[in-house]
Amino acid sequence: MEKKRLYIRTFGCQMNVHDSEQLAALLAYEGYERADRPEEADLIVVNTCSIREKAAQKVYSELGRLRSLKSLKPGLRIAVGGCVAQQRGRALLVAAPHVDLVFGTHQLASVPRLLNLCGHGGAGVVETAFCDRVESLAIFAPPPHGTVSAYVTIMQGCNNFCAYCVVPYLRGREQSRSGREIIAEIRSLADLGIREVTLLGQNVNSYGVGTPEGMDFPGLIREIGAVSGIERIRFTTSHPKDLSADLMQCFREVESLCGHIHLPVQAGSNRVLARMNRGYTREGYLDKVQRLRDACPNISITSDIIVGFPGETEADFRETLDLMGKIRFDNLFSFKYSRREGTAAMKMTEPVAEEVKSERLKILQALQDEHTQERNRLSIGRVEEILVEGVSRASSRHLTGRTRGNKIVNFAGEERLIGRTVRCRITEAFLHSLRGELQLPEA
Ligand code: 5AD
Ligand code: SF4
Repeated sequence: MEKKRLYIRTFGCQMNVHDSEQLAALLAYEGYERADRPEEADLIVVNTCSIREKAAQKVYSELGRLRSLKSLKPGLRIAVGGCVAQQRGRALLVAAPHVDLVFGTHQLASVPRLLNLCGHGGAGVVETAFCDRVESLAIFAPPPHGTVSAYVTIMQGCNNFCAYCVVPYLRGREQSRSGREIIAEIRSLADLGIREVTLLGQNVNSYGVGTPEGMDFPGLIREIGAVSGIERIRFTTSHPKDLSADLMQCFREVESLCGHIHLPVQAGSNRVLARMNRGYTREGYLDKVQRLRDACPNISITSDIIVGFPGETEADFRETLDLMGKIRFDNLFSFKYSRREGTAAMKMTEPVAEEVKSERLKILQALQDEHTQERNRLSIGRVEEILVEGVSRASSRHLTGRTRGNKIVNFAGEERLIGRTVRCRITEAFLHSLRGELQLPEA
């Protein structure tokens, strides 16, 4: 088969990163090898994100840069997938006529077929239909040699319709993969040397609806807990309203389930939470956090918060800061509210001024930095189990890995430890990482 080169540029979340890996696996059957630079490629795929306006804008600047590349190399093909492709469809071809293919979020598995349609008659091809059963969920992406961690999609889509969010419109309704298929994939990954799996879905807590096995999310976690070779299970993202007592119980029972949860709270004021259509109150969230900490005392809790949602007053914002003070998240992703087409919040009045949003974000991030430092410092003196991921970027004599709580630890060690689980005593804490000392014997 003729060898061709593929370059993929990925924007956005872990879901998109995994979609790109799956696409590369699929295109490998068509003879495509990965290129390191766009200049070397015969096919460039831009996998896009539309969660906030800024993310979507980046896509257009990227496509602008690719225009000149295409004029130098007319045989080059450019495909655009992901959420901006789903949202814009044919309009994307009008804005960027050098694009050959626009494919939607349910069309990953069709890309090889769609590429064959390109180039006939010159016009670009657009396919953004939603499917009842998304085939791409089952594409197996073999992990690159030497990696120890892999993503596994267990569901996609979202039924929640939070007032600010485009995801339900661009990824469609929730669809769960069969439990049997997921377990088989995880067994294959374990056979290939994978030690850690991260289960992916927009709302993993509501996993299982409509699957042949009828297994729910805690049931799935227990099954994965029994797969030999898998030392660590992680998952993202959890919706607080669907976090069950049974899932909390899993943190006590399932040894390989890591003590970390990403639990987006979005706001600390009940008025804002209700306007966001989140389906829980600040008291309900605080109660779940308490119960999680009872089940798993050192659990790392990370979250997402939006500032400047329409109608958010100074008092509402203070409630968010107050909630942060009560919880003390290990880490936080915080965003200025961005208006997204088609969402319920688009129609809301009382916008918050841009300067106010910026100011609130700054205050919130400064507070979180204090909390992150404080939570990281709690690790000092503890012996933590580290899964070694590779050589540290800062120094070739140092290795880097993660604690079960998902904190990055750098420590002096030999390369032969990559892929192994070792124990480190934590000696120093910084904002973005910890420093440790390897404990002997090395586990
Ligand atoms: N504006 C700002 N942030 C948003 N998010 C989702 N939609 C928006 C929006 N319109 C944030 C939420 C979500 C994270 C993935 O992105 O905090 O949890
Ligand atoms: Fe968006 Fe809410 Fe669904 Fe998350 S749960 S993807 S924020 S609609």
